[in-house]
Amino acid sequence: MLRGPRSNNFLLGRLREILGVVGDVATVFDLWIGEYDYAFKVPTGLGTNRIVLSDPKAVAHVYANDGFGYLRATYSTTFSRALMGHNMISANKEEHRRLRRAVAPAFTNGLLRESMSVFYDSAYKLKAAWDFLFESRDEVTIDVQQWMNKLTLDTIGITGFGHDFKSLDGHKSPVSEGFDAFLRDNSFRVLLFLNYLFPPALNLPLKRIQIFKRMKKAFSDIAKVLVENYLQDEGSSNAEKDRSILGLLCKKFLNFPVSHSHDDPPTFHGTRLDNDSDLHQADKDDVVPLSHLTKTSSGKMVDSIFVPKGTVVTTPFVHMNRSEVFWGPDAKQFVPERWLKENLYPSKDFPSYRHRYTFSDGPRICIGRIFAVAEFKVLLIRNFTFELPSGPDSPIGKHKTFLVRPKLSDEVGTRLCTSHACQASDWLK
Ligand code: HEM
Repeated sequence: MLRGPRSNNFLLGRLREILGVVGDVATVFDLWIGEYDYAFKVPTGLGTNRIVLSDPKAVAHVYANDGFGYLRATYSTTFSRALMGHNMISANKEEHRRLRRAVAPAFTNGLLRESMSVFYDSAYKLKAAWDFLFESRDEVTIDVQQWMNKLTLDTIGITGFGHDFKSLDGHKSPVSEGFDAFLRDNSFRVLLFLNYLFPPALNLPLKRIQIFKRMKKAFSDIAKVLVENYLQDEGSSNAEKDRSILGLLCKKFLNFPVSHSHDDPPTFHGTRLDNDSDLHQADKDDVVPLSHLTKTSSGKMVDSIFVPKGTVVTTPFVHMNRSEVFWGPDAKQFVPERWLKENLYPSKDFPSYRHRYTFSDGPRICIGRIFAVAEFKVLLIRNFTFELPSGPDSPIGKHKTFLVRPKLSDEVGTRLCTSHACQASDWLK
């Protein structure tokens, strides 16, 4: 039996801390890992427990079996399906594998290079919009995250689906409205929590739920039009269209349903429900190997743990991405140069993207990771210089929305304020 923190609530256990509804998840995990090592259990109410793993070998084992031995936890799949429709994130096993194989050719380095012109078009549109803002007013507040959402939506819309959302041109759509709503407050986290306790709560007429439903309908409407267009000129050969995500999905799936158990075909969404840790539900009994011996509640040291079928396993990458054990004494500081030299610490045991779990790992690793990194490079590195208002020691906080984002402690949300006076010399140039 694994050790772990005691329950302090019969109904919820320590769930509110794990889901980030109260306190700071990163601090909580750091504290528990310090106390119970790299494998422990956390009570999640009504006699249930969740296993938390940050041991490199154990984590690599779970990610390697992601999609078959370990599935998406039922409650996160329900949430994702209820709000966004059946999608790649909520698909499991063979269905997920087929979807992934079908769209993979749209994410190769070669195709990414070919899409660069679209990236640049969007980046220049954004640059022009920001330049205009800087020139037209003395003091400007820029919500960088919101603009990046617009940029991503327009770029993926054109490259993946041949649809221009025109959100950088100021066009509003239920999709951009849904993206923006992600940013605003932490009510989505509360929804996630509600869904965990009582899934039918997602049918309540709450404002946030309605926004998601409109977004889901908009995606579905756009997809219908695009598929119709695609079919209309099916005979004509258009290599670019055929290699787009939509083209690949049409070719692969239009003639036979992906799964007979779903009313809607799966859509292509890549939104995970948690920003601090990944959830995996064991689909069969498993023995997870450990690279460090761990102490059980009876005091025995073990080098593997038994995970019964149905157990939810959490991999807290918020801890692993910034742990002194894996990254050295400056782990919690922003030192990008660390990737330019060999890391002396054992993070090499984590095989994931640049030894970080930000994009997950294994068969379900983010398929758009190269796309995401390229997009940031094109926009941020080439056009603007960012500096913090009081230098590297500026206090940074967490903007806890659906997806956690960093923010300046004394700012509202992810906004950056700038003015003409500081534009050239200060922190946003
Ligand atoms: C900084 C930006 C991004 C981050 C941090 C990120 C992170 C992630 C993570 C952690 C997952 C795994 C989710 C899970 O297993 O539940 C994922 C999956 C996915 N991501 Fe991303 N992502 C980013 C950008 C993108 C972009 C730009 C695209 C599309 C062009 C994309 C498409 C996807 C898709 C389709 C999946 C599902 C993959 C699968 O289930 O096989 N992501 N992403």
